[in-house]
Amino acid sequence: MIIALVNQKGGAGKTTTAVHFAYWLSVNSKVIVVDADRQKSSANWVQFLNLPCRVVSDPDELFDLLSPLAQSFDYVIVDAPGNLREIVSVLLDRSDLALIPCKQSGLDLHSTAETLRLIRQRQEVRGGKPLVSLFLNQAKKGTLLLRDSIQVLQESGFPVLKSIIYDRQCIMDAPGQRTTVWNLRSESAKQSASEFERLFKEVLEVLDEQSKK
Ligand SMILES: Nc1ncnc2c1ncn2[C@@H]1O[C@H](COP(=O)(O)OP(=O)(O)O)[C@@H](O)[C@H]1O
Ligand SMILES: [Mg+2]
Repeated sequence: MIIALVNQKGGAGKTTTAVHFAYWLSVNSKVIVVDADRQKSSANWVQFLNLPCRVVSDPDELFDLLSPLAQSFDYVIVDAPGNLREIVSVLLDRSDLALIPCKQSGLDLHSTAETLRLIRQRQEVRGGKPLVSLFLNQAKKGTLLLRDSIQVLQESGFPVLKSIIYDRQCIMDAPGQRTTVWNLRSESAKQSASEFERLFKEVLEVLDEQSKK
């Protein structure tokens, strides 16, 4: 199964989600992280988590690599770069699921819109694939903006996950501490861990439902 974290908007939460998802999956499954971003943020992070990782930022190499990796691992989690259209296209051509973190305020901006447009194009060519799930990341609890943002996500026409990842300092701290929220001790980290778990279970349900069709 190939799951790509995609959003051409920088800072949306691709790396954060990719690393936490891979780590969570690795408890029960064979997982590899593919870091398709030249900045190598997820590769630098997962080296401390005992997760296998490949760094590939060349589109052709990436195209050739992903399917064989999917034969050897239960899950291939790909961390996509920001605005590099060619790489994102390759990922959309090769993925089973494109998981799109969206920041509360970032939907109206050009880069997320561009990503959604690319997804529509690839789905048209691939007969509806990849599956797509949007979710709200770094949401601020209780704000009016929160409800508006969910509505804006839904208006994109793509499926929106019910799970929301809230804005928490522990998430920001995790890479610096070379860890994930599961290994941080604060109350907020526990909350965050259960929010991530809820999100990832929901993603697996989406994949499971699709495989039954
Ligand atoms: N839910 C969240 N709460 C707090 N900080 C977050 C959250 N999600 C991401 N961040 C922070 O926002 C910044 C950008 O996130 P990152 O995952 O690197 O985005 P991307 O890979 O899409 O550019 C990082 O500093 C990260 O720690
Ligand atoms: Mg990143």
